[in-house]
Amino acid sequence: MEHRLEIETMGKIKVVGPQKAYGEITISGSKNSALPILAATLLTDEEIILHNIPNLADVNTMIEILENAGKKVSWEESSLIIKAHSNINSVLPYGPVRRMRASFNVLGPLTIRNGYAKVALPGGCSIGVRPVNFHLEGLKKLGIESKIEHGFTHSKYTRTPEKVHVSLPFPSVGATEHLITTAVLLENTETIITNCAQEPEIVDLCNFLISMGARIEGHGTSNIKIYGVEKLYGTEYKIIPDRIEAGTYAILGAVLGEKIILNNVIEDHIFSLLDIFEKMGVNYKMEKNTLTIEGISRLELSPVDVETATFPGFPTDLQPQLMALLSLIPGRSSITENVFKTRFNHVDELNRMGAKIFVEGNTAIITGVTKLSGAPLEATDLRASAALLIASLIADGETIINNVDHIFRGYEKLFEKLEKMNLKIEYSE
Ligand code: UD1
Repeated sequence: MEHRLEIETMGKIKVVGPQKAYGEITISGSKNSALPILAATLLTDEEIILHNIPNLADVNTMIEILENAGKKVSWEESSLIIKAHSNINSVLPYGPVRRMRASFNVLGPLTIRNGYAKVALPGGCSIGVRPVNFHLEGLKKLGIESKIEHGFTHSKYTRTPEKVHVSLPFPSVGATEHLITTAVLLENTETIITNCAQEPEIVDLCNFLISMGARIEGHGTSNIKIYGVEKLYGTEYKIIPDRIEAGTYAILGAVLGEKIILNNVIEDHIFSLLDIFEKMGVNYKMEKNTLTIEGISRLELSPVDVETATFPGFPTDLQPQLMALLSLIPGRSSITENVFKTRFNHVDELNRMGAKIFVEGNTAIITGVTKLSGAPLEATDLRASAALLIASLIADGETIINNVDHIFRGYEKLFEKLEKMNLKIEYSE
């Protein structure tokens, strides 16, 4: 069955609050696993079947890129079947790559497959400066020389090194994934990546690559070792649940839940959030893969000081949503943003609703208020949209969130899931 979802308009959401959430939903497959795994399907011409793929705008952008690169991709419910359609094409059009940063991860695999590649420099969420220097410096060590001209990266595979050591200046998720996905197909090359990212999505990517025949050790730690192989094969693989979607709904439950039940949640993946819930006094229970959150008066919750960090620390992708919650907790909380130091687009919008948040450097000081009030708002990026949605559901009166379509990049079946939690919103284009 063909079913696609792409962002073409900038819609708005009308919410009348305050509302109460009660109901049960199942968390979808992880967007941030699906994207690098889809990019890695370029490493083989054999058939790949992927299960638990969320039908999101970003996933469809990656599918468009794969199709441009010579793949035939079809949906079967929440599975994707990926086959070779023509020879690999390593010169990609500007549009889809510019639209989404994760698309840059095709550069290395395409260069290895064809000896050269031309790929646009990526765009993505407007959450701060997002350079690709770690990617290009790492690829250079792997034997890929790149130059940037007219907004495109032109890359050439120049040599096969025997041993490569890349030490990342910061444990970048994208650079770690890009370098792994490139190194696996460098026959006779042993690659060590130190200070690499340890996110569950990296482990998922490595498990997927191993199922294709790759030789990788140390994934999930800060040192990964890769022994390049000559060929990778077709496979069938199920990706992990989306920890950021789970965390978003968990925070929503803590703000306005009577009782919400989230299925398909991996405790180890959201441990840092549960730890914060513990400190705040949020009433939650984690049993097997089900997280239940029961309402408790916000007046009984305690303020917290939080710092975003790479995994296993608290994820930057839940920072805006947590800030919406903390804006209503009595006392003084703080959030220090260590990953994208200027990721505070949502602060002005929350303040327009009556929140008291003050940003100093990369720290937001949040003084809890007793209520938020509905207001016209602008959504600027994916997770800011989610934070504003949470705030609007708890605020008194009507909120209109303009430019809200960013949210479809990361929340599959959003309206269906909100309805299952008995939350009412109106969407219009
Ligand atoms: C990924 C996630 C994104 C998440 C982020 C941090 C995907 C598709 N996206 O993004 O949702 O917010 O991890 O957890 O998985 N940096 C450089 N040079 C580089 C690369 C990164 O300076 O070449 C810096 C960035 O500007 C940022 C930090 O490193 O300050 C972390 O970025 P990175 O981990 O690379 O984020 P993404 O992979 O883009």
